[in-house]
Amino acid sequence: MAFAHGKLLLFGEHAVVYGEPALAAALTVGVAATVTGRTAARITVPAWSIDVAGDADHRVATALRALRDALPFDASGYDLHLEASLPAGAGVGSSAAMAVASARALAAAAGHLLTPDQLFEAAMAAERVFHGNPSGLDHAVAIHGGLMHFVRGNPPRMRPVALGASFRLLVAQVEAGADTGRMVAAVAALREAHPVARALCTDIGALVAEAEAALTAGDHAAVGRLMNLNHGLLSALGVSTASLDAAVHAARTAGALGAKLTGAGGGGCMVALVTDETAPAVASALAPLARATFEAHLQPVTDS
Ligand code: MEV
Repeated sequence: MAFAHGKLLLFGEHAVVYGEPALAAALTVGVAATVTGRTAARITVPAWSIDVAGDADHRVATALRALRDALPFDASGYDLHLEASLPAGAGVGSSAAMAVASARALAAAAGHLLTPDQLFEAAMAAERVFHGNPSGLDHAVAIHGGLMHFVRGNPPRMRPVALGASFRLLVAQVEAGADTGRMVAAVAALREAHPVARALCTDIGALVAEAEAALTAGDHAAVGRLMNLNHGLLSALGVSTASLDAAVHAARTAGALGAKLTGAGGGGCMVALVTDETAPAVASALAPLARATFEAHLQPVTDS
């Protein structure tokens, strides 16, 4: 069995597609993949109600064909069973976790040792099917875990971020997620039409640098303010929705230090920064607005 993490985009979504930095954390939930045989490259994902043949006209099958073709060994025919512990299409990196876990399981079945670069490139091929123009951030986090600073490129630049304190986050899936490729294309069209939209992406890049400093300093209040600013800039780029805005404002009113949408937007999830004191009130405020909620804890890495 092979596992890959889901991700929580803390700062910098969308702008990261245009070379700005982003900060994302691995979730403990993700996708576990097992090769169950070698017949018709069948793919089953019970949690997402998927059971398709490898040659089916289905996005998951198409993505996994692209993945198999990009792997540096013969990955044909292997049947994959995927156990997903995170929602699909909600902005928490489900497709990247699926691609990375599948590549790892296929490599193990074929007796092949994949380098991180080969894994990254193969997952990129699958992510292109879902996202059109992915930055690579989602599968970088799925591969490496931890809290990561990521800049798109060939090769991408990524490094771990050291935290100065623990951060407690509440994630709420407010509505079904929109297609990431469609959201990325909408931002591209806005940037094409209006230079100010390009400037907003540059501003998000500057905000990410401030956010990294605040995370490293353990400055909860500054991280919260920057989450609010990031949400405002994403709203200006047109990727928030009335439901996401309502949940973000409900969380802030209930005492969250900050709140923003996370991921591609157009639906999906929002994230709120809470303390042990405010967590119960924020959770109660979000409960009626959310399909599901879960917690994510960012912890400093200790030597012991
Ligand atoms: C999606 O999780 C994040 C986006 O920035 C797209 C990408 O980075 O590929 C919206």
